Amino acid sequence: MARQLDVLLLSSEVEPFAKTGGLADVSCALPKSIKSLDHEIRIMMPRYGSIDERKCKLHEMIRLKDIPVPLGNKQILASVRSSFLLNSHSKVQVYFLDNHSLFGRSGLYIHPETKKDYRDNDDRFFFFARGVLEVLKRLGWQPNIIHCNDWPTGLVPVYLKTLYKNDPFYKDTRTVFTVHNMAYQGVFPKSSFNKTGLPAGVLSEKGIESDGMINLLKAGLVYSDAITTVSEKYAEEIQSSAEYGCGLEDVVRRRKDSVTGILNGIDDSVWDPATDKSIPHKYGIKTLDLKLENKKALLRRTGLPFRGTIPVLGMVSRLAEQKGIDIIMDVWDELMTLPLQLVVLGIGEKRYHDFFSKAGKKYPEKIAACLEFNEDLAHLIHAGSDMFLMASRYEPCGLNQMYSMKYGTVPIVRATGGLDDTVEDFNPSTGKGTGFKFKEYHGGDLLRVVKRALGAYATTTSWRKIVKNGMSKDFSWETSARKYVQLYRSLART
Ligand code: ADP
Ligand code: GLC
Repeated sequence: MARQLDVLLLSSEVEPFAKTGGLADVSCALPKSIKSLDHEIRIMMPRYGSIDERKCKLHEMIRLKDIPVPLGNKQILASVRSSFLLNSHSKVQVYFLDNHSLFGRSGLYIHPETKKDYRDNDDRFFFFARGVLEVLKRLGWQPNIIHCNDWPTGLVPVYLKTLYKNDPFYKDTRTVFTVHNMAYQGVFPKSSFNKTGLPAGVLSEKGIESDGMINLLKAGLVYSDAITTVSEKYAEEIQSSAEYGCGLEDVVRRRKDSVTGILNGIDDSVWDPATDKSIPHKYGIKTLDLKLENKKALLRRTGLPFRGTIPVLGMVSRLAEQKGIDIIMDVWDELMTLPLQLVVLGIGEKRYHDFFSKAGKKYPEKIAACLEFNEDLAHLIHAGSDMFLMASRYEPCGLNQMYSMKYGTVPIVRATGGLDDTVEDFNPSTGKGTGFKFKEYHGGDLLRVVKRALGAYATTTSWRKIVKNGMSKDFSWETSARKYVQLYRSLART
């Protein structure tokens, strides 16, 4: 039998402890799935002030207290708390790296009121990267793989290839760096560099410098042993143009032989209409009629009238440029003339908040704008809507379209990244397909595809077919987890 691997997954967001987007879902579900494949996997994340000690059952680790972590010419003390993610038959240990003055605040990256990045994000995430490596040594646990995710973890591979290069403790440890989003790069002025303690040569265009700044995403891309992205299409896109590569396309291209796309999955223990605790009427493919009861509940909950045959279009999204709100705004008035109702759940940029709250007032019977972060409502939207809209400008993977298919809610998506990989355009003549796709990032194309979906909705038999096609898809994590294990194994010196 193949040897069990020891893996540490590093992430700045892990559901249910801290979440701003899909990274948190993945950082919870993937480790649980890898554990089910009988590997030892643990997680380490920052201990933010917003993590409720009692609710999350955090306990102190006496052995892991007051660990000095160098930051510039200071030694910052780290301690560790621990909790677990529960799986059906096992549990995954989660370590929370703690330093109160750096992480003891409620925001993850930005100040919740001013919406501006914390000014010391360089200190916070330099400390996190270096702290992880110091903590592991104190713990005496030598993972074969450190699986890093996005820019907050980007310095870990750099440390391992430089300051810790000759450290016997890490001689068999390899790194995987997963890009969930090329647009967020963790960029800091060069003047911060001395706080990393890294050798001077690292601060160069061959190293972690980009456009005269320190770039932590680039750090991960350059120094990791393998790179993954969260869909196959996105792996191609980020090498193809500056639009997708966000200025780092050449860096990725130089490492093309080390880049793999592995699609995210969905966590059935959280996202399954048959067992979902957040929805009033549980249902499955054989009890689809109950979906209507959820639709009524959603409309009641969001203050919209029930209009019988009028479909509800759901959206659950960070309100960020990435998500294609601009092209929705471009054709807004025409969209509002169509026979549909829209429920939007999201938080993010002020201009989008302003737009949706104004629209909600202008069309009180057509649109409900829920400008908050509310996980229960997100579940109810998937269960109670007929269609789900994702007009993304780009989408590394996207989880919501997979959740919506699982809930019998038909996705309308732009054919980009993971949306293109997971949604199959409906073809009325073959009855195949799980949703509706449009190609160009353009309001007119969006409008046309919405009209196409409304046409199909009017034909009950085709609609049932699309709904069932989507519900029958297998988006479980197991397939993807096996691909990660294969990759880990190819790198690990076991
Ligand atoms: P991204 O990570 O780019 O935001 P994904 O589709 O991968 O996009 O994942 C988004 C995740 O965040 C989903 O689990 C979605 O339900 C959740 N989410 C986004 N906005 C909200 C919100 N306002 N309230 C509750 N959940 C949200
Ligand atoms: C990012 C991407 C999203 C992806 C998620 C999880 O936030 O924007 O497309 O699904 O990470 O990988």
